[in-house]
Amino acid sequence: MKLAVLPGDGIGKEIVAQAVKVLEVLKREGAKIEMEYGNIGGAGYDAEGDPLPETTLNLSKAADAVLLGAVGGPQYDKLDRPLRPERGLLRIRKELNLFANLRPALLYPELAGASSLKPEVVSGLDIMIVRELTGDVYFGQPRGIEVRNGERVGFNTMIYSESEVRRVAQVAFGIAMKRGKKLCSVEKANVLECSELWRDVVAEVAKDYPEVELSTLYVDNAAMQLVKNPKQFDVIVTGNIFGDILSDQASMLSGSIGMLPSASLDENNKGMYEPIHGSAPDIAGKDIANPLATILSVAMMYRYTFADMATADRIENAVKKVIAQGYRTGDIWTEGGHKVSCSAMGDAVVAAL
Ligand code: IPM
Ligand code: MG
Repeated sequence: MKLAVLPGDGIGKEIVAQAVKVLEVLKREGAKIEMEYGNIGGAGYDAEGDPLPETTLNLSKAADAVLLGAVGGPQYDKLDRPLRPERGLLRIRKELNLFANLRPALLYPELAGASSLKPEVVSGLDIMIVRELTGDVYFGQPRGIEVRNGERVGFNTMIYSESEVRRVAQVAFGIAMKRGKKLCSVEKANVLECSELWRDVVAEVAKDYPEVELSTLYVDNAAMQLVKNPKQFDVIVTGNIFGDILSDQASMLSGSIGMLPSASLDENNKGMYEPIHGSAPDIAGKDIANPLATILSVAMMYRYTFADMATADRIENAVKKVIAQGYRTGDIWTEGGHKVSCSAMGDAVVAAL
């Protein structure tokens, strides 16, 4: 198994180092894992003048899976747009055709107190958001800022083709089949033509999955339902921009964005795996970040790319165990918990493995 390891910026290096500790355990036990490091984001710009250097792209294309930390930092905010760290992330998603982004929002029972919602509203929460990742207003043309009638205007294009909607809908229905068989498609078809097409195509795909109960919600209502009664959801499928927003919102239901992994898949289940959270420059280098989202991303890698459910379960169980044992990084710490550093949390997971 060839892995491209791209720590990126901010806390990226610290959290990826903990996930690599887990991979090293599996390697010592005989798993054939080859890891090669590359630069991405601000680290790519600093070292090679590009947020997605050619070397990193080639390394990632040749790999079976990519493990990513996080990108971005205030020192890069003034760079020209194409040189900014976020562009590196968007480009690698596009170049590897990673159109299906799986973002689970799962509440660990012990962390119910860390959620900003009442424990009874969130206990038992287990949602999978399937976000389309290579289309929509993120990539649509035309886009730009220009002067019209003597003033500047900014514009982007929200666009989806049928085939783009169909393939991500198929992934979402497939996942729903393996879970609670409920899928909610989120769009804004009362206002946007792009969403109208989305809704129609999802309804067509639904015919191939008669066992899955399909519902649709407008995105504003979905945002409300997510805080009102989040447990009504099983799988949610939505476009790139709505998925970006709703997945951050859903992550907070579970107490900490520091707990949530993600997978971004192409049609052959090659994938890039990364925590949902960002580079957190304010706490970078302090060894206090939560590495569990990155470690859980390795579990997702085993589940989706390597189809090794036993190892995926084993890593997830190790994380459950350290949570049950009371280990807490600052973001999930509440009175009575045992506060540990990022690296100590990594060591605890290794011990639990
Ligand atoms: C995410 C992030 C990215 C996105 C940014 C960093 C470009 O917010 O992965 O959700 O908007 O997709
Ligand atoms: Mg986001």
